[in-house]
Amino acid sequence: MTCHDLESIALALVADGKGILAADETIPTLTKRFESLGIASTEQSRRTYRQMLFTSPGAAEFISGAIMYDETIRQKSSNGTSLAETLKAQDMLPGIKVDTGANPLAGAPGETITEGLDGLRDRLKSYYGMGARFAKWRAVIHVTDTLPTSGCVTANAQALARYAALAQEQEFVPIVEPEVLMDGAHTIARCEEVTGIVLHAVFDALFEQGVALEGMLLKPNMVIAGKGCDRQASAEDVATSTLRCLRRHVPAAVPGIVFLSGGQNPRLATTHLNAINRLPGAKPWKISFSYGRALQDPALEAWHGQDENLAAGREALYRRARCNGAASVGRYTEEMELASTSADEPPHRRDWSDD
Ligand code: 13P
Repeated sequence: MTCHDLESIALALVADGKGILAADETIPTLTKRFESLGIASTEQSRRTYRQMLFTSPGAAEFISGAIMYDETIRQKSSNGTSLAETLKAQDMLPGIKVDTGANPLAGAPGETITEGLDGLRDRLKSYYGMGARFAKWRAVIHVTDTLPTSGCVTANAQALARYAALAQEQEFVPIVEPEVLMDGAHTIARCEEVTGIVLHAVFDALFEQGVALEGMLLKPNMVIAGKGCDRQASAEDVATSTLRCLRRHVPAAVPGIVFLSGGQNPRLATTHLNAINRLPGAKPWKISFSYGRALQDPALEAWHGQDENLAAGREALYRRARCNGAASVGRYTEEMELASTSADEPPHRRDWSDD
């Protein structure tokens, strides 16, 4: 595979009006989300939930691919085909989370290093055989008045770059995700400062490791005030600060930027994406979404672990995907949210059924 082939996959993932569904929560994380709604977390309930997300009729118009977790890519849907095949049948590309999680960074209280490089080449080979064509690795950066340390930023940037180089060697498009967390009381200005430092370090490391920028996607946080900050910025300020930071630090050769939602509520995540895409001026990359919670939360709530709600869960995912697809080209409107399902019947709605 050439860099050109990887670039074609990267461009397909950010095709006009499309973004990515992140459905790669680890078992403990998904269990926590299930338990908050009183849903039992079993291998079977997790499979049912992921299959519901992957079979929302019409969602592929707005979702180009889905990121899976190791358990999911090995699971079979109720008709006996693998969940990776289920995605392909819906015209969505299978992706896979390949880091093994963030662990405490030695000598750096309050900071983490994302691990998973050992054995990664072999794991990539095996995921390729299961149908995955793009990968994800998430680095986590905590913000306080004194954090992050440069040691934490450098170590995580190095790991992201080594992962990305290995992924490209094994014919995967790497999604490079350095997440500056929203946890804390920091201002939007502090988030912009830290995000800039982190992106600078990440692209320096990617250059050092010879990663082809044309064959990757960046998955950053938006520039946003910490959850505990009294002064929450307007959507316009989030958009302006985010785009300014990205223009300063992300090379034009990168085909796409797909944001994480990071704990923003679903509508706000859509509003922010739309505001960024509506800003005038140079945007050399596609700007779209790779949301987890902001796409899934309404679907999880609607399903609530009950088979009789599978159709409602699929519909809820479709609705968020449609709003975010519009936001990825700056065409999201309040009316799209307010429109009731009956007044706003999507073309595939007749196919929403329980399995
Ligand atoms: P959220 O959109 O819920 O932040 O998840 C995105 C993701 O993939 C985190 O790694």
